[in-house]
Amino acid sequence: MAYNLLKGKKGLIFGALNEMSIAWKVAERAHEEGADIVLSNTAVAIRMGNVSELAEKCGALIIPADATNVNELESLISQAMEHFGGKIDFILHSIGMSPNVRKGRTYDDLDYDYLQKTLDISSISFHKVLQTCWKLDAIAQGGSVIALSYIAAQRTLYGYNDMADAKALLESIARSFGYIYGRERGVRINTISQSPTETTAGGGVMGFDSLLDFSNRMSPLGNADALDCADTCVMLFSDLSRKITMQNIYNDGGFSSMGMSNKAMAIYNRNLEECKDCK
Ligand SMILES: NC(=O)c1ccc[n+]([C@@H]2O[C@H](COP(=O)([O-])OP(=O)(O)OC[C@H]3O[C@@H](n4cnc5c(N)ncnc54)[C@H](O)[C@@H]3O)[C@@H](O)[C@H]2O)c1
Repeated sequence: MAYNLLKGKKGLIFGALNEMSIAWKVAERAHEEGADIVLSNTAVAIRMGNVSELAEKCGALIIPADATNVNELESLISQAMEHFGGKIDFILHSIGMSPNVRKGRTYDDLDYDYLQKTLDISSISFHKVLQTCWKLDAIAQGGSVIALSYIAAQRTLYGYNDMADAKALLESIARSFGYIYGRERGVRINTISQSPTETTAGGGVMGFDSLLDFSNRMSPLGNADALDCADTCVMLFSDLSRKITMQNIYNDGGFSSMGMSNKAMAIYNRNLEECKDCK
């Protein structure tokens, strides 16, 4: 159901690759709520994925940019403002990638060049987007910026690897820049900590199916899917969340407040004997 919550707002959405992408669902929901949208991703992702299908559906413009490259970001933000005929009201940073995860390098055997790339792509790119927008004065008063995070920033989850460090940095950038943007420009900056979600990036995490099942069992409301995340984004982009800033909002069905659930305990009991030597 649409409520016209973003009517007249102009948004820049990073990270829609295919229909599984969380950013894809956010773009669809933002469009339904009346927003005018620019989509961005790397040139390769635009070629490999089906972003043009989404753009057609949402009447959106696609502008390629590598979010780690400040020159490309400057060009993107300037073009987006020109297209909108003014400032941007909301931005979604839905970008993450770890070469260590992709190449199967475990946390006790990280490749440090890969780690730099993980941090640059998954976290520092958020600072680069915010700083570029700051210098171009690109975000409107009352605007809202969201980056997508995961609870591995606070707690250790087997297999999440250096992405845990990347998410901790991402959340810190949201707070540090959130202070400056709030004070000087009346702009909100938050992160959403999302349940494990079946996407291209999500599927790359070691033991992802088990993690998905475990989270679902532990969460009283069950895992939040990409559409649930999109709805939370719409709420945070809208004027209904005017005073929410510098927060990490858990969109996780209650997982982050749980210790053990009945549903998870049932599985654990069954496998106790088998798992007695597990580390
Ligand atoms: N899927 C999950 O379980 C889950 C859970 C919590 C948080 N998240 C976060 O949600 C975000 C979106 O991931 P997703 O699960 O929708 O997967 P996805 O693979 O669909 O999206 C990741 C996107 O990052 C883009 N990207 C990678 N490098 C880039 C660069 N240099 N410049 C610009 N874009 C670049 C990719 O092209 C892709 O579109 C990520 O930050 C991810 O960590 C995902």
